[in-house]
Amino acid sequence: MHPDLKSKVMTAQEAAALINNGEIIGISGFTGAGYPKVVTPALAERGTKLKAEGVDFGISFYTGASVGDESDGVLARAGIMKMRLPYQSHADVRNSINKGTTEYIDMHLSHSARMIRMGFVPKPTLALVDACDVTPDGKIYLTGCGGNTPTYLQIADRIIIELNTHYGDTLKGVHDVFIPELKGNVPIYSPGDRIGKDYVQVDPKKIVAIVEVKLPDNLKPFAAPDDDSNAIAAYILEFLEHERKKGRLPNDVPYQSGVGNVANAVLGTMAKNPAQAPVALYTEVIQDSIFDILEADKLIVASGASVSYSLAGQDKYMANAHTKDWKSKFVLRPQEISNNPEVIRRLGVISMNTALEADIFGHVNSTHVNGSRIMNGIGGSGDFARNCLLGFFMTPSVAKGGKISAIVPMVSHVDHTEHDTMIFVSEQGLADLRGLAPIKRARLIIEKCAHPSYKPLLQEYLDYGIKHSALHTPHTLDKAFDFHKRLIETGSMLG
Ligand code: COA
Repeated sequence: MHPDLKSKVMTAQEAAALINNGEIIGISGFTGAGYPKVVTPALAERGTKLKAEGVDFGISFYTGASVGDESDGVLARAGIMKMRLPYQSHADVRNSINKGTTEYIDMHLSHSARMIRMGFVPKPTLALVDACDVTPDGKIYLTGCGGNTPTYLQIADRIIIELNTHYGDTLKGVHDVFIPELKGNVPIYSPGDRIGKDYVQVDPKKIVAIVEVKLPDNLKPFAAPDDDSNAIAAYILEFLEHERKKGRLPNDVPYQSGVGNVANAVLGTMAKNPAQAPVALYTEVIQDSIFDILEADKLIVASGASVSYSLAGQDKYMANAHTKDWKSKFVLRPQEISNNPEVIRRLGVISMNTALEADIFGHVNSTHVNGSRIMNGIGGSGDFARNCLLGFFMTPSVAKGGKISAIVPMVSHVDHTEHDTMIFVSEQGLADLRGLAPIKRARLIIEKCAHPSYKPLLQEYLDYGIKHSALHTPHTLDKAFDFHKRLIETGSMLG
């Protein structure tokens, strides 16, 4: 290591001691990839001690998206995470938000960096990032995510680097760092286009600490796809085939696939279909299902904000990055580019996201249980849903062993309006709502997607509305939340 950099090497505890009370920290990390793993636990330990001494210690914590337990979990459990944005999916952070200990700003992921640069939220004073290399002249090479890291590095006064050798050089050169202007276009015309640099340039004087580590992203393996996921995947693939036959869907449009097991299963099923043409991804999160596509020799290119691989997936990627040249198939971008509405619209992306609940008229709730309890956040689902060529919302028709219907009369929180949604898929079937007026939409979604045990209740609600309400969108406000009320009162939407 160059002597200028070597002089900044220290322990995680020493680096954590540089973090001030009230500091606004912008960290690397996106969907469990590329987040700090040692300075944050040391900070949590320090915060716990200070709190025990009666100091009201706390920090604001900005990320790309969800991050691992060594960042989100430890800080939430220490009770020192005062503010959090723009997305999380950790049980302890969720609890802290829902208890009111952590203030949370849930943002479209493509908007967050720009909002931060414009100063709508306080600007980060410190950037804490996982990097695979750093040069004496201030070139920082990122690991598993682009996220909001370039913006945090650009804005912050001080930078702490976790120099992580886990991925070796297998992610170096994969990044394409481009920060857009307030106006002007993002010149990506094909999913693999590169428009920036493969590093983030900073003033080396801002680097105040380097902590050496060799640690993987702590991501659990994906569950084998269950029957519901397989059924949803089959409906989507059959529908895409149908659209192609109708001449409404070009063969070469890229795919976006959301977070979680269902999304992972859909791509995995595509890879196994011998008739599937090679695919390109212009997506947010690249998960383990990419290996099925690579092994079937069907990947053109995968562009995303992160590679969120399980531990086994990380080993697999590293083993093949050079030998099978898998490295050349990936482009990692800042999330304002991976999720950029202009590019999504231009490329004609096919978008697949998961809903918590949808209502009979096609509004989607992705984020709140019973209208008030945050689950994760909107993530990139809105970036893609509104701007894609063809958009699917997927969900098993019931949750919690049938006590909750995913199709309800009126969603208890709206993330995606009826104007942004197109096609709904559950394990029961697929409803293409495009071009339909509200009553026809409601009839179709009940018929195709609702679970049989909830169909009569939904039909009854619609019929009552048609008799007693205005006939454009026949809601009955004093009955619209009966499903949710029964859930709260009896533990089941069936009552
Ligand atoms: N009410 C209450 N709980 C519900 C529910 C509902 N209507 N629907 C699902 N759940 C529960 C499930 O029971 C499960 O609970 P558990 O963890 O205790 O088992 C949990 O929510 C997750 O549901 P699951 O069916 O496993 O789906 P998932 O892991 O795919 O997550 C979302 C679903 C909606 C929470 C997740 O996709 C998400 O956060 N989406 C928003 C962000 C997004 O779309 N990002 C992608 C953009 S690229």
